[in-house]
Amino acid sequence: MPLPLVDQYRRPVTYLRISVTDRCNLRCQYCMPAEGVTLRPKPEILTYEELLRLGRVFASLGFVKFRITGGEPLVRHELVPFLADFARIEGVNELVMSTNGILLTRCAEGLCQAGVQRLNISLDTLRRATFELLQRRDELGRTLEGIEAARAQPFRRIKLNAVIIRGVNDDETVDLARYAVERGMEIRFIEFMPTGLQREWTHDRVVPVAEMQERLRAVWPDLAPIAGPEGSSGPSRVWGYAGGAGRVGFISAVSETFCQACNRVRLTSDGHLRGCLFSDGQRSLREVMRSGGSDDDLREVIRGVVWNKVESHRIGKDDFAPVELGMSELGG
Ligand code: GTP
Ligand code: 5AD
Ligand code: SF4
Repeated sequence: MPLPLVDQYRRPVTYLRISVTDRCNLRCQYCMPAEGVTLRPKPEILTYEELLRLGRVFASLGFVKFRITGGEPLVRHELVPFLADFARIEGVNELVMSTNGILLTRCAEGLCQAGVQRLNISLDTLRRATFELLQRRDELGRTLEGIEAARAQPFRRIKLNAVIIRGVNDDETVDLARYAVERGMEIRFIEFMPTGLQREWTHDRVVPVAEMQERLRAVWPDLAPIAGPEGSSGPSRVWGYAGGAGRVGFISAVSETFCQACNRVRLTSDGHLRGCLFSDGQRSLREVMRSGGSDDDLREVIRGVVWNKVESHRIGKDDFAPVELGMSELGG
């Protein structure tokens, strides 16, 4: 097995997040503007052949975890057969996906059979009116049906992701936690981050995870951090209910940083490789491929992006500047 790549801060980097499309069937306030989203022209988007080639090249550099994201990955045509091919690449140990869930009623079975092992599904609210406000579409029903369709399949694990925004859904943490635990799913509560294209972010709309934890502990006093490696999964800190009855995660990019343990890079749908969600440094792997570059040329560019990963994001610092790409292009 190839040794993992490390960056200049000695962090091993073995996790690639692949955005397969910048299109989406929702318009979440925290991700996209309501109108006027500029979509990449189709010829700029990496083809499945190109993505499979990159999968093999990344695996040859010791990458073992691959997360398919978007936009909404399931709006891309013929995604399931592509994933079945991707899952067969030697070295792809973990193939997982982040989705908004809407299309899972028709795709969940195919995804599971194709070899997608885990799903993370966005669910920020259980109220139809709040969903319409936050996601800007009346799709709570299909989202909940999609979650049920996923639960009916033998995925290794399904996690829910809830971005919490003050004054919008911060009064729903207990209801969301209860919904998840009753169905045997882990829910992760995510602080609202100042990402690219959305213009909704202000510091006072961020609910620090400490405040969310307090609200949950008022109902479940024995909810507590899990010790050891199980207690942290990438950016998420995991807490458990008494008696192992379920888990809740907290992703606190704003109030605390987890950058010292960052193990990932991101591939945008148009083939740029980025070292950080909050930094515009990137290189185009598409250009290397379309100008006839070899796999060794690709490896050299990838090594460079990994090595130059920034040490930490600058959220909350005086010199913070939002990146120029939206989450729908960066894949979250
Ligand atoms: P697991 O493999 O289940 O641990 O998933 P994950 O947390 O890596 O992926 P997911 O797509 O579910 O992301 C959950 C939330 O964490 C989203 O809001 C992401 O934008 C955010 N996130 C993921 N990676 C990073 C990161 O490197 N930095 C920051 N600040 N946020 C991240
Ligand atoms: N802040 C926090 N999380 C976000 N996501 C998208 N935009 C933001 C933001 N501004 C999340 C989605 C999804 C994941 C891929 O990224 O909710 O769960
Ligand atoms: Fe679509 Fe996900 Fe962005 Fe919401 S957060 S608009 S579901 S890409």
